[in-house]
Amino acid sequence: MYKYLKIYNSPQLKGDVKISGAKNAALPLIASSILSKKEVTFTNVPEVADVKTLLKLLKNLGAEFEFENHTLKIDTSNINKTTAVYEIVKTMRASILVLGPLLARFGHCKVSLPGGCAIGARPVDLHLKALKLMGADITIEKGYINATGKLKGTDIIFDKITVTGTENILMAASLAKGKTRIINAAKEPEVTQMCDVLKNAGIEIEGIGSDEIIIYGTDGELLEFKPTEIIPDRIEAGTYLAAGAITNSKITLNNVNTEHLEGILVKFREMGFDFEENKDNLTLLPAKKIEPVKIITTEYPGFPTDMQAQFMAIATQANGISVIEERLFENRFMHVPELNRLGANISINGKVATIIGPNELIGADVMATDLRASSALVLAGLIAKGETNIHRIYHLFRGYENFVEKFKKLGAKMEILNEEMP
Ligand code: EPZ
Repeated sequence: MYKYLKIYNSPQLKGDVKISGAKNAALPLIASSILSKKEVTFTNVPEVADVKTLLKLLKNLGAEFEFENHTLKIDTSNINKTTAVYEIVKTMRASILVLGPLLARFGHCKVSLPGGCAIGARPVDLHLKALKLMGADITIEKGYINATGKLKGTDIIFDKITVTGTENILMAASLAKGKTRIINAAKEPEVTQMCDVLKNAGIEIEGIGSDEIIIYGTDGELLEFKPTEIIPDRIEAGTYLAAGAITNSKITLNNVNTEHLEGILVKFREMGFDFEENKDNLTLLPAKKIEPVKIITTEYPGFPTDMQAQFMAIATQANGISVIEERLFENRFMHVPELNRLGANISINGKVATIIGPNELIGADVMATDLRASSALVLAGLIAKGETNIHRIYHLFRGYENFVEKFKKLGAKMEILNEEMP
């Protein structure tokens, strides 16, 4: 028996929705608790599957935690294992985030190679290269990364900007001996929050928010974390704005950080939408006519790859030809054949997708392939005529907290049903 999502045509949304804490801030920060000498408290932690998976991994290593009402108290002082097993890591590649802190604290660890996922090979070579430069001895045996050694600060230049690579080295450098310079560092808000948390835990850090970050390590001295509230999820926020946009409705998001959304809002404005901002609330104003858009995904503060699929869904309703280029991942167009099953007119040429709109979409059975592609199918299902059934819906639970309740609150009609095995 497995679950699928049935979406009924919901051409108009209204009202407001509360945005949860950012999954991609919570995951690295939960991993950073390995650096702490005592219990760490995080609030506004999203109750999503990926967070629960990482907590399962840390529990497997010997950590203890309480997680309720979005508050997580985690104590890693009794960790007595340093092997992150394949059975858990294979379900979530962000598990690689335990590599840096485990090695820095214990001087040795074994972490299963995360393996690829739907959107690409997702190698971790840059993480490993950086740790080797810091003095780690790293071998790969039977699908596991074996890392040993005492880490020393050094200069790290990332060949490509890597979010979790930057986060892994930030954590490793915090306990290393001496100064580490990370050049070509990722500048995502989730990376900046990790820098703020480490600084508040007593680490001397310069260049926070820039692409060159300098960290002075404690040479093995564990840290004392202050309680931290996880920043709002900019991708969840962008996804609900996209739901408002594709139905051309007026909706309000509560608990957002609009500064983190600038690279996304500029594209909504290009499509004819506008916004009213009021402290940490943001209201989407419908477009007179939805205009086509040109998008190239780039690292922060540019347009995020995690919003590419959602904008492709909106573009099916734009009056004209939209062009979207995916520059970060080699295979992040799996939502295209599914959107075309609903009647969209999208063609792909290498890294570039061309979307001809507007097209009436007709409900059908479609398959979710990865987290953000799944959300694009939900958006399309809102405006498709009739009913749309999205299979393999577990992808959505990984990163969107209470999405059915939140969408229903906005007036969308949908339900989770059990699939009879064929
Ligand atoms: C983070 O993944 C996010 N995940 C992803 O969000 C997001 O899509 C991605 O950053 C890009 O913004 C988390 O933060 C948990 P990268 P990450 O390392 O760190 C290549 C979601 O939907 N690369 O910045 O794994 C890589 O193949 C997820 O929430 C190497 O070649 O991404 C990619 O082409 C999906 N070698 C590019 O760099 C490496 O060692 C960017 O990857 C590392 C990365």
